[in-house]
Amino acid sequence: MFDINKVREDFPILNQKVNGKPLVYFDNAATSQKPQVVIDAISDYYSSINANIHRGVHALSQLATDAYEVSRLKIQKHINAKHSHEVLFTTGTTSGINLVASGFSKFVKEGDKVMVSAMEHHSNIVPWQMLCERAGATLLVIPMNDKGELILEEYERLLDEQVKIVAVNHISNSLGTINPIKFIIDKAHAVGAAVLIDGAQAAPHLQPDMQALDCDFYTFSGHKACGPTGSGVLYGKEKWLNKLPPYQGGGEMIKEVRFEKSTYAELPHKFEAGTPNIEGGIVLGTAIDYLNQVGLHNIMAYEQELLSYGTQKLQEIEGLKIIGTAENKTSVISFNIDGIHPYDIGAIVDKMGIAVRTGHHCTQPVMEFFNVPGTVRASFSFYNTKEEIDALAAAVVKAKNMLG
Ligand code: ALA
Repeated sequence: MFDINKVREDFPILNQKVNGKPLVYFDNAATSQKPQVVIDAISDYYSSINANIHRGVHALSQLATDAYEVSRLKIQKHINAKHSHEVLFTTGTTSGINLVASGFSKFVKEGDKVMVSAMEHHSNIVPWQMLCERAGATLLVIPMNDKGELILEEYERLLDEQVKIVAVNHISNSLGTINPIKFIIDKAHAVGAAVLIDGAQAAPHLQPDMQALDCDFYTFSGHKACGPTGSGVLYGKEKWLNKLPPYQGGGEMIKEVRFEKSTYAELPHKFEAGTPNIEGGIVLGTAIDYLNQVGLHNIMAYEQELLSYGTQKLQEIEGLKIIGTAENKTSVISFNIDGIHPYDIGAIVDKMGIAVRTGHHCTQPVMEFFNVPGTVRASFSFYNTKEEIDALAAAVVKAKNMLG
């Protein structure tokens, strides 16, 4: 059973006051707060097993290595990957996308095409543009409609055998749209294109199943899913990870090093050069355990309640327009008020202890599409409440009266 009061007790930061008011944290799409069990696991790691991994015969190194690999197995199970060596630890979604985009230089040639969507975060646009520039390839964009939904007929029309990879998000960070990724993956495979899913916004809400989705790459960050900053995962299908060249050279990613030529380690180590974020990798496993203990289905159901309540409450405010009204949405509400800059609303509600994000949310093309300079974005998590949404709505009305 989902007990919101009990859940809130797990997050010590929620007890504090900001600007003299109880903190209302609605910037969850930027980063999530951490439960005590995650905070404790970070401290426990440094108090009891801190050592470098995959290197020493000594006991501590063994303990740290075991904990790191146990975490990899937990993540494998969580995302239903076929093999644990298909789970690579990264520093976050951005590094996962860059790893793939960099390696794909091997498969993308002049005249080929790479496809992204109109609602991507900059981190799922720029690495592909860099790839296209290196290769002389063309970047195609799946368009969206006024609700912020991808136009799937256009996607099918754009697909052909020159498309080598399609990179789309599972959930849009600025609109909240949940994209039909299974359809996208199947259609891309039908023309022989690989698919990378940016799961940064999905990991805190959904449990993606790699084998059911049949995607080639799926990447997410730990810090948005109750885990430590600087932790992340790139799932890659074994056949692709074997074909892709290493991203970075260094220690631990080699089999043998000779001045004439070096050979590379087996998966996953081929892609894990240097000392990784050991604590981050281990504690990401703790965060995933925590999310599973609360239950991702409970989380999603409760957040959908917050989404409908929040949408209704905010829509009652005259002059407020919600940007992103897809049928299938997660708990993100981006909005503007006629004639008022989003930054000014953000600054005023902050004085009332309410944290929202303002600006373009690293999605400038989305802002351009909707012809707005930016939005105010309230993103709800499973530790938020309807009372907090009431406080946001009251604060927005106050801001509107002050600025209007
Ligand atoms: N990608 C993060 C956000 O949407 C930082 O806020």
